[in-house]
Amino acid sequence: MKIYEAKDYQEMSRKAANILSAQVILKPDCVLGLATGSTPIGTYDQLVEWYKKGDVDFAEVKTVNLDEYRGLTRDNDQSYYYFMHKHLFDRVNIKPENTNVPDGTEPDADKECARYEALIASMGGVDIQLLGLGHNGHIGFNEPAGSFARTTHCVDLTESTIEANKRFFASADDVPRQAFTMGIGTIMKAKKILLIVNGEAKADIVAKAFFGPITPEVPASILQLHNDVVIVGDSAALSKIPR
Ligand code: GLP
Repeated sequence: MKIYEAKDYQEMSRKAANILSAQVILKPDCVLGLATGSTPIGTYDQLVEWYKKGDVDFAEVKTVNLDEYRGLTRDNDQSYYYFMHKHLFDRVNIKPENTNVPDGTEPDADKECARYEALIASMGGVDIQLLGLGHNGHIGFNEPAGSFARTTHCVDLTESTIEANKRFFASADDVPRQAFTMGIGTIMKAKKILLIVNGEAKADIVAKAFFGPITPEVPASILQLHNDVVIVGDSAALSKIPR
């Protein structure tokens, strides 16, 4: 596990975008695993800027997103499909047919999760998976649990996640109660993992996840066992890790 410290959100975003664009340059038809949330917005903005300058080309890139709220349609501005188009896909030359987000509107959860898991495998797996970190240690929407989920599945969101994500909705009641997410096993199969984290509010969970015991109660802690993980955090988020 390599940890890079950035002085602030902007520098974190720039470093993360550097790592992702290096992957695209080295393997133009790579599979990028992408994430949503407030953390990666700056990374996507930076990639768009470099794309506009001609420094990075998405023509052959394929993407798979980590997760999607269950029940939200693609045109709902809180869906992760909408988020990805707004922040990245509609701003670069990626082919829409090469982008993938779980379909939150598929009523048969098992069918959609199995389809998504098979799709990732058929693409040859993820070359680099971008991750944010939930306040309770969740990655994707893998919430604290008694065991690590292996594959893409449907989860019940915890109260703390609903509380944390309600800022994006009109009220907490509008936050969907379930989501489809890649499993911990799916995420761990990615060849490389890039986790980005910023802000003092995440300092405790960063220390717990990456320097504490490996437990499904802190889903991100499993990343300690992956052999190619890079964490890029700002100084505030890394302020509680042992030095
Ligand atoms: C959301 C997403 C995660 C994200 C996390 C943190 O619920 N499902 O993929 O990493 O919460 O979000 P933020 O970056 O806004 O703190």
